[in-house]
Amino acid sequence: MIILKSHREIEKMKTSSRIVAEILESLRLLVVPGVTTYDLNRFASAEASKRNVKCAFKGYHNYPGSLCCSPNNQVVHGLPNKNPLVSGDILSLDFGVICDDFYGDAAVTVPVGEVSDSAKLLISATEASLYAAIGMALPGNRLGDVSSAVQQFVEGKGYSVVRDFVGHGIGKNLHEDPQIPNYGSPGKGVKLKVGMVLAIEPMVNEKAHDVKVLSDNWTVVTCDGGLSAHFEHTVAVTENGPEILSRI
Ligand code: MF3
Ligand code: CO
Repeated sequence: MIILKSHREIEKMKTSSRIVAEILESLRLLVVPGVTTYDLNRFASAEASKRNVKCAFKGYHNYPGSLCCSPNNQVVHGLPNKNPLVSGDILSLDFGVICDDFYGDAAVTVPVGEVSDSAKLLISATEASLYAAIGMALPGNRLGDVSSAVQQFVEGKGYSVVRDFVGHGIGKNLHEDPQIPNYGSPGKGVKLKVGMVLAIEPMVNEKAHDVKVLSDNWTVVTCDGGLSAHFEHTVAVTENGPEILSRI
């Protein structure tokens, strides 16, 4: 069942989503060689406390961190640790907060120091696929239009979309209906309506789409060791088109 949000509720979700965007923006500047994801996690958690909001992921299904930190071949749900990042790494950061009962959720992939051209291209294609998908989040369109926009864009560049993890509706719960795969067929799936709020999150692999979960039961990695990138926005479907809530 998809829960539609009123204007007032969307304003609340804008507040939480903007806070997520601000914190991710500050984190971006801290991602330099030598920093650890432990430090980044601590920073994110401290910034949330300063703003009197709760970190959405901390304790969610017992997730131990506040910030998901997934370097290189890690796709999503990587755990913060004390290994210093090195120049040439790429790092996906996924963060969420709860403010006034409503969630906001967003993710970015950032380069650490100087990265290869192929890593830069993977990052920019993944971000562009998110914007292609957001452009389809119009009332009257179908969910398959959003999903296929990611897939077409990504596969057109020779990359693959992860199938085992998907985007989601969001509201008073982190995960609500509908599930939003990053693959699908135009014209299929539920019709989008004004008041839907969607966390659209392409996870894109440089090589094959196959992923597995490590023995920590959280960290998702590519099976072939190839790089992976992840971008996410919380987006409202409005009468004026898609509105990106997780934007500063
Ligand atoms: N953006 C991710 C999601 O929506 C973050 C969840 S991580 C978890 O699924 F730790 F909270 F599970
Ligand atoms: Co999400």
